[in-house]
Amino acid sequence: MSLAGKKIILGVTGGIAAYKAAELCRLLIRAGAEVRVVMTVAAQQFVTPLTFQALSGKPVLASLWDAASGDGMEHIHLSRDADLLLVAPASADFLARLAQGRADDLLSTLCLARTCGLAVAPAMNREMWAAAPTRRNLEQLRADGVSVLGPAAGEQACGEIGLGRMLEPADILAALPGLLGAGPLAGKRVLVTAGPTFEAIDPVRGLTNRSSGKMGYAVAQAAAEAGAAVCLVSGPSCLHAPAGVRRIDVQSAAEMRDAVLRELPSDVFIAVAAVADYRVDAVATQKIKKNDAVLTLNLVPNPDILTEVAALPGAPFCVGFAAETERLAEHAESKRLRKKLPLLVGNLAQDTLGQDSAELVLFDDRGRHPLPRADKLTQARRLIRHLAALLN
Ligand code: CTP
Repeated sequence: MSLAGKKIILGVTGGIAAYKAAELCRLLIRAGAEVRVVMTVAAQQFVTPLTFQALSGKPVLASLWDAASGDGMEHIHLSRDADLLLVAPASADFLARLAQGRADDLLSTLCLARTCGLAVAPAMNREMWAAAPTRRNLEQLRADGVSVLGPAAGEQACGEIGLGRMLEPADILAALPGLLGAGPLAGKRVLVTAGPTFEAIDPVRGLTNRSSGKMGYAVAQAAAEAGAAVCLVSGPSCLHAPAGVRRIDVQSAAEMRDAVLRELPSDVFIAVAAVADYRVDAVATQKIKKNDAVLTLNLVPNPDILTEVAALPGAPFCVGFAAETERLAEHAESKRLRKKLPLLVGNLAQDTLGQDSAELVLFDDRGRHPLPRADKLTQARRLIRHLAALLN
């Protein structure tokens, strides 16, 4: 990946993950970016400015009151020149100050004075991440247009396990081309469906399936990383929308279809959702009471969203998913031709559903392209690379 010529301000705040910011700085430089590092006072308790100076090849900025910085307008000059301000790690305290628009040190002042995009990679203890004030601050920051990268789940420096670790430097790096409008899908609109659908039987019951939404959310993230403007139409899922992705929540296949048609035109449509093929004919308006008789539900076919979109005049570039339990190549290729798709992603349902990794095969006009087993985000990035190559 290239960030050649991009000017990035890397803000480092006080947290144990500050040591990982050194690796991030190195990766940014290696990708061709020009990096200026700004540290808070607390960050310097964890890593010395000298570390970042050596990695970035430039003096580290740490104070609003540095007499050596000429006219005292360093915060204005710096931010005017930058393509992106990236704060990693962003502590709970820094997010709170950012949400309030405080300007009581160089980094917060830069954030307030900037004209470029701002992305933060939060890092904190899981209870701090889950705390109501942090939730409120995050909501405010998202509403202010700040891109939030992560955090990840896992073991924390305090020994606890949960959500709050800073994303790995390589994952932060992967998100940057999209934020800088520099990826292979820059300027493209991508519409993604994800998750299961829920078809009501009565007000409290319904038919659904075991799709977790993980693959669709990973595809949405990979498309956003590649620079696309991404809209994710999601069935019920407990996953969080990836940074920069607009999410529309739906329940049934009919709602998903309506949302998808409303979001057209789009350059690309990627149907990852496990849409129910049938719905209950007459949904009971009151809860169905049990008795000893056999209960029969009449099911009627749902609209096939992907087939409908692919058949529209001026249809987007359509990508389908096929989960098969046997004879993958044969079923997937016939599904691709039947639905008239330029690209179809095949997998074996039994080793993909609900799992964190998947083995995939891409089918297009040139044949089959196996993607050996990897985590779903890696697979999604490979898929988006393949798709971008076909598109361009
Ligand atoms: N799809 C859709 N709308 C539906 C059903 C499926 O958009 N009502 C999309 C899925 O998101 C996926 C692809 O179509 O991209 C799956 O095709 P489909 O023929 O539904 O697959 P299966 O349900 O696995 O088909 P079959 O039962 O025939 O194997």
